Amino acid sequence: MKEKNIIPGFSKLTKAEKIEQVAQFFENPQQVSQSLASYWYSNPEHQKLFDEFSENTISNFHFPYGIAPNVMINGKNFMIPMVIEESSVVAAASNSAKFWSTRGGFHTRILSTTKIGQVHFIWKGNIQQLKAHFPELKQKLIEGTSSITKNMRERGGGILDIQLVDLSHEIPDYYQLKASFDTRDSMGANFINSCLEEFADILKDFVAQKIEIVEKEVKIIMAILSNYTPECLVEAWVECPIEEFSAIDPDMTAEEFVWKFEKAVQIATVDPHRATTHNKGIFNGIDSVVLASGNDFRAVEACGHTFAARDGQYRSLTKLNLENGIFRYSLLLPISLGTVGGLTSLHPLAKLTLELLSDPSAEDLMQISAVIGLANNFGALRSLTTKGIQKGHMKMHLLNILNTFGATDKEKEAAINYFKTVKVSFNAAEDFLKTLRK
Ligand code: MEV
Repeated sequence: MKEKNIIPGFSKLTKAEKIEQVAQFFENPQQVSQSLASYWYSNPEHQKLFDEFSENTISNFHFPYGIAPNVMINGKNFMIPMVIEESSVVAAASNSAKFWSTRGGFHTRILSTTKIGQVHFIWKGNIQQLKAHFPELKQKLIEGTSSITKNMRERGGGILDIQLVDLSHEIPDYYQLKASFDTRDSMGANFINSCLEEFADILKDFVAQKIEIVEKEVKIIMAILSNYTPECLVEAWVECPIEEFSAIDPDMTAEEFVWKFEKAVQIATVDPHRATTHNKGIFNGIDSVVLASGNDFRAVEACGHTFAARDGQYRSLTKLNLENGIFRYSLLLPISLGTVGGLTSLHPLAKLTLELLSDPSAEDLMQISAVIGLANNFGALRSLTTKGIQKGHMKMHLLNILNTFGATDKEKEAAINYFKTVKVSFNAAEDFLKTLRK
């Protein structure tokens, strides 16, 4: 890798100057500048909005915005926007949705919606003294943040509880204020972090001023929300009699399919290598909805993976239950989302997503995201345990391969026709184009 020169004060440059600085590292700087500009929005107001989302923006990086149609959730039909670059994900979700639409659709329920934040601090005092005065401190923490929490309380949310957590057995003198919050329809990161930073100041003042507490110095290490929200839980599931799978594959009976499916879920439960891929397939769906709605997919991913490892081993997020001839397949995980604030109302396509989903509450969006996660996972396991994943995946990927070779629309049409009966591979597509072009 060739090192780049240091450019002092890059963030202070104008957009044109930044582009100029970046373009100089390419053989044809003018072409690179034009290419970057070609992905800007034609409406300067739109582009300004995107430029201001983040620092040092020089262009936009586009992802496809697709739709999974006819997704039945709790008896209602939805069109679900998905932002994803992987060619087969929307198709897999749509196929699953179609399969389940005649079998009762997807079912969901919210188990809880609590968010967590922590003030981490080091204090060398006698913890019994702080414990003895904690009810008073807690009152001060709640009262001292009342101006921050006012609007949220008016919407029915706010601070739910604050605990003093003793972790001095892990790290000498280490304690936490661990607070739980209800942030209603907002993801709540800014709200929680503002409360926590105020808590930190109140804690320091309280300890410094309380005569009965001998050790006066609290060292605040940090005050930040936790993206692990195991009490912000949603479940999505599908169920039908086992015999409903009789036509799922020409070479399998319903019982054989369900037996194989069960083994696949068991393997993802006991083997972390398989569990990671299994859960990755779930997040193909979840992330695509989270992105389409302008939410933070990194937070959702991090939380889901921690939850998957909650008993000490990383496991599948889905469970299969086979009782009384009924196949019940479920996904349980925490998903912390917002439908107000943040990018949800700023990003024009996120706004459109929420409108298409009929202005969902945060709870609604948790359920929709979980459904698409389960739909993608069911689609993946269905393919993996029957015809394998590559046939369908490569069919969807064919256009990407053809585009790599600059295929024209006519060539693409011919290739799509040809590969209806022939196995798609990179080499086969290349050979086909070579022959066609001769
Ligand atoms: C590919 O993006 C996702 C899968 O690998 C998921 C799985 O194996 O379950 C197909």
